[in-house]
Amino acid sequence: MLCLKRKNQFSFLFCCAAILCASTIEAQTNASAINAKVDALVKKMTLEEKVGQMAQVSLESLGKIEGPNFIFDDVKLKDAVVKYKIGSILNSPGEPLKPDQWNAVVGQIQNTANETKMQIPILYGLDDNHGCNYVLGATLFPQEQGQAATWNRQLIYNAGVITAYESRASSVPWTFSPVLDLGTNPEWPRIWEDYGEDPYLDAQMGVEFIKGVQNPLGNKDKLAVSIKHYMDYSDPKSGHDRTDSWIPEHYLREYHLPPFAAAIQAGARTVMVNSALINGIPTHINKHLLTDILKDELGFTGFIVTDWQDIENVYRRDHITKSIKEATMLAINAGIDMSMIPYDYKEFCTDLIALVKEGKVPMSRIDDAVTRILRVKEELNLFETPMTYLKDYPKFGSEEFQKASYNTAAESITLLKDSNNILPLPKTAKILVTGPNANSMRSLNGGWTYTWQGEKTDEYAAQYNTILEAVQNKFGPVNVQYVPGVGYDNTWGKYYVDSVINIDAAVKAAASVDYILLCIGENSYTETPGNLDDLSLSDNQMLLAQAMIKTGKPVILILNEGRPRIINKIVPGAAAILHIYLPSNFGANALADILTGDVNPSGKLPITYPRYTNSLVPYIHKPSEGAGNPQGGDYNPQWPFGFGMSYTTFAYSNLTINKNSFSPDETATISVTIKNTGSREGKEVAQLFVSQLVAYMISPDVKRLRGFEKIDLKPGESKTVTFQLPLKDLAFVNNENKKILEAGDFKIAVNDLTVMFTVDKTKIF
Ligand code: BGC
Repeated sequence: MLCLKRKNQFSFLFCCAAILCASTIEAQTNASAINAKVDALVKKMTLEEKVGQMAQVSLESLGKIEGPNFIFDDVKLKDAVVKYKIGSILNSPGEPLKPDQWNAVVGQIQNTANETKMQIPILYGLDDNHGCNYVLGATLFPQEQGQAATWNRQLIYNAGVITAYESRASSVPWTFSPVLDLGTNPEWPRIWEDYGEDPYLDAQMGVEFIKGVQNPLGNKDKLAVSIKHYMDYSDPKSGHDRTDSWIPEHYLREYHLPPFAAAIQAGARTVMVNSALINGIPTHINKHLLTDILKDELGFTGFIVTDWQDIENVYRRDHITKSIKEATMLAINAGIDMSMIPYDYKEFCTDLIALVKEGKVPMSRIDDAVTRILRVKEELNLFETPMTYLKDYPKFGSEEFQKASYNTAAESITLLKDSNNILPLPKTAKILVTGPNANSMRSLNGGWTYTWQGEKTDEYAAQYNTILEAVQNKFGPVNVQYVPGVGYDNTWGKYYVDSVINIDAAVKAAASVDYILLCIGENSYTETPGNLDDLSLSDNQMLLAQAMIKTGKPVILILNEGRPRIINKIVPGAAAILHIYLPSNFGANALADILTGDVNPSGKLPITYPRYTNSLVPYIHKPSEGAGNPQGGDYNPQWPFGFGMSYTTFAYSNLTINKNSFSPDETATISVTIKNTGSREGKEVAQLFVSQLVAYMISPDVKRLRGFEKIDLKPGESKTVTFQLPLKDLAFVNNENKKILEAGDFKIAVNDLTVMFTVDKTKIF
């Protein structure tokens, strides 16, 4: 009997190994067939054709919006595609288009490409930051920071699958997402575009999204991703967009590189470069980062695209060269494969051709760049299927997809305070809804929504519910009053400005209700227009909040913001606080369901929520910045990274590790039991933190996230969560840029439990 079982196990393992081997062999055969095709193609191409493939232009430079349609200027389209042979086009024309309109736009481009000798399909790319945000009717998801707050890998994977499907319904096979920048600097105006401040969480979420979007690449419902913005774009010294970051290489490698490395390992096919500078060097000309690390060390075989106009920026903004031509030379030689020009393609093409002829850019570099670009086009099957059409994607914008967005929003919303269990509210509650974010689809979505800055969202997303509408639907319109109190200035470039409308009217209305739902935060923005000089919540919103607290009615604070605006003065007066991030079109429905208790909140902060404007240290910091340190910083955030409450309670017990001492190549097995001790079903995220107590070269981080698992528990139910932790994951990058695991003592913490273990030997990986 035992023998039989063994034999069965053996044949099962044998079968698995055989299948794995067969699929590896198939993948290798495919890869070499693609490489052979591409090599043959490159051999037939002229220098002009190769340089054209390296050029990417913006759609607006080839025509304009007339009525609801984008109309090409035929002369311009032919000039770019036929004469200059450009290989890629990007962007929306300033207004979102319906999927069939995108079919027509991309179709006309591919038809024009067929007029060229080589007939190489054009690679169209769009920013799908939270779903296909430039496609009307597509399913939009919470922005990445909110997605990360779910701590639920499956939801991120689903978002990837749906985004890819809807993008192909719109004929677009390439997305400039996910953003893998680390959200360590809360002043940076794009912090909400990323998966939070922790490299492990960021990498885990990024990889799930990539798997959902890309795998298997070549299918008609999959896209190539562009992970961005490689790397350390997110932590500028000034806090402002596209400015310099000061950072030693070992910190770059320890914190900013791992999410990109994980994404490359997961097969990310293209990389977009950090638009700013690191240590005074524009990233676009940093050969060490682009070629030595990304291509050589990480073995990246896809292609590198610049960010918007960034070769020109080396000359105009950064004063590194005396001409654009010189900047082009530096960037291409550093390893850039495609330039997002985005307007003057003639200059780029002419300069690059001249640089090759003058011997300033080697032909081998051009061949390498073109090979990489054509390889991705081949992998996407674009030569065979340059076009995909809406009619073949019946689930575009379907209820099933919308439910996935709703679920993501519902699991992202994070309960930060709930005095005396004031939440959930009775369904008969009388509520005053107030604040500048109360009746706005724009602030629910943030930037990159229908347009770059999201300023037209109220027009395009009118069919979805604002917070006010969702609350009215849930509690009954007669029970809900609305007085905005404060409103935003919607003038271009002044999105951070708000003004008092009628705080007195809000105070008056509060007299006849049971609760005040105060919806505060930020208007939509991104990039430079989102720069901010003061992270505090605006004075006007502060006035409104203080007036509401003064009424004595319980204030439920709803935070709807991209950056964690400082609110320490109003936190004590609020009865409850819910952070909803930028939850998109179904976020208000999810919030209303949480307010009534139909949904139990389970989001956890993917960032540290700072308490003071001069204390913006993230949770990854040194003991010198730690809590209670008599010398140095005194880490004391408003809410720590990973924090989030529930309407039920959970008890952690039995934290165990399989051994007390490990050698560097071993894997530790850690488990913990979690019980739902309350009376509601709820989801909990077990977070595994590890601290190295003493490190000999570089002061150790106080603690680091090394694992997490989200589980669902019914009242009274217990589950045991098990983590497998390869010890090599605890290695840190030393000041010689080597990954080292030092022998010594380590502490594991899961919730309020801790357990110790030792690493017996030092090893460099
Ligand atoms: C942004 C990128 C974006 C690109 C194309 C740039 O301004 O920095 O994130 O992908 O524009 O729209």
